[in-house]
Amino acid sequence: MKDILSLAIETSCDETSAAVLKNGREVKSNIIMSQIDIHKKFGGVVPEVASRNHVQDINPVIKEALDTAGVSFRDLDIISVTYGPGLVGALLVGLASAKALAYALDIPLVGVHHIEGHIAANYIAHEKLEPPFICLVVSGGHTHLVKVADYGKYEILGRTRDDAAGEAYDKVARAIGLGYPGGPLIDKLAKEGNPHAISFPRTYLEEGSYDFSFSGLKSAVLNYLNGMKMKAEPINEADVAASFQEAVIEVLSAKLIRACKEHGLKQAAIAGGVSANSALRERLETMCKKEEIDFYYPPLMLCTDNAAMIGSAGYYEYVNGYTSSLDLNAKPGLRL
Ligand code: KG4
Ligand code: ZN
Repeated sequence: MKDILSLAIETSCDETSAAVLKNGREVKSNIIMSQIDIHKKFGGVVPEVASRNHVQDINPVIKEALDTAGVSFRDLDIISVTYGPGLVGALLVGLASAKALAYALDIPLVGVHHIEGHIAANYIAHEKLEPPFICLVVSGGHTHLVKVADYGKYEILGRTRDDAAGEAYDKVARAIGLGYPGGPLIDKLAKEGNPHAISFPRTYLEEGSYDFSFSGLKSAVLNYLNGMKMKAEPINEADVAASFQEAVIEVLSAKLIRACKEHGLKQAAIAGGVSANSALRERLETMCKKEEIDFYYPPLMLCTDNAAMIGSAGYYEYVNGYTSSLDLNAKPGLRL
């Protein structure tokens, strides 16, 4: 089959990103313009501010992606773009650019589901990884346990019923007085704390369920902090971070391993911003080894939002015969 050169665009949240890929796994460039420093002072992503920055950054980011890859618009075969889920105003910026380019160049447009992109980050990182496998997608907006039956074929085994794992990290970090985004800061602080110092609840839900719930844990941490303040007792922030993280990791790991066993699969992967977490990686590395399951995770740069992962997912959609029409709209609440 002829090589497919694609331009991919991702603007679902606070990263403006464009990438050039050859076929599904060869990344020629992956430019990520993060707005984290802009949103930091607000303690979280401000949607309107995100949209305005995407508008400002999208063209230079696309140009840099092409220049770095050493290709021009005329070399491109397809354009892949995230069309949901995400912030509607942010998604629309990437989508409008992708549609304009696909129209002007007269090449196919491929709308990509953001979660599908996170999963595909593992294809870029691991040349030999092929479905089927179980993937735990844990990010700021999502917590999904997915059976990847084939390229582009997914079965959702479970999802969060309230907060996403990354959201819980960010909220707990704010309560402890750390900055935004909280995940990496808790990850770091937890290394200095005792994960068994405070007993926070583990929410497994009803027997056999693959769903998650993190709001009870988040409330338990907030209640603990308030209780200590009321009693004027000193708070060991590192112990709080480590104990909270332990509660999250225990549940995430247990459900991923159980899903592999129950579906008879010997491959497990993690994806999304929280998959950058060092303790989660170490725990799963150990557990998977014990169960003789091959464990995959993307390098840090491909864990958080980036366009290369969208390009990989878009390529597999395209070769499976899926393209989008030019009236493709942003779908903020899109389900997998
Ligand atoms: O995938 P992502 O960039 O955006 C979404 O699609 O949501 O994920 C961002 C989330 C944030 O909540 C951030 O705190 C979390 O990923 N995160 C981490 C780590 N690095 C990023 N959480 C735990 N440990 C980390 N090392
Ligand atoms: Zn994401």
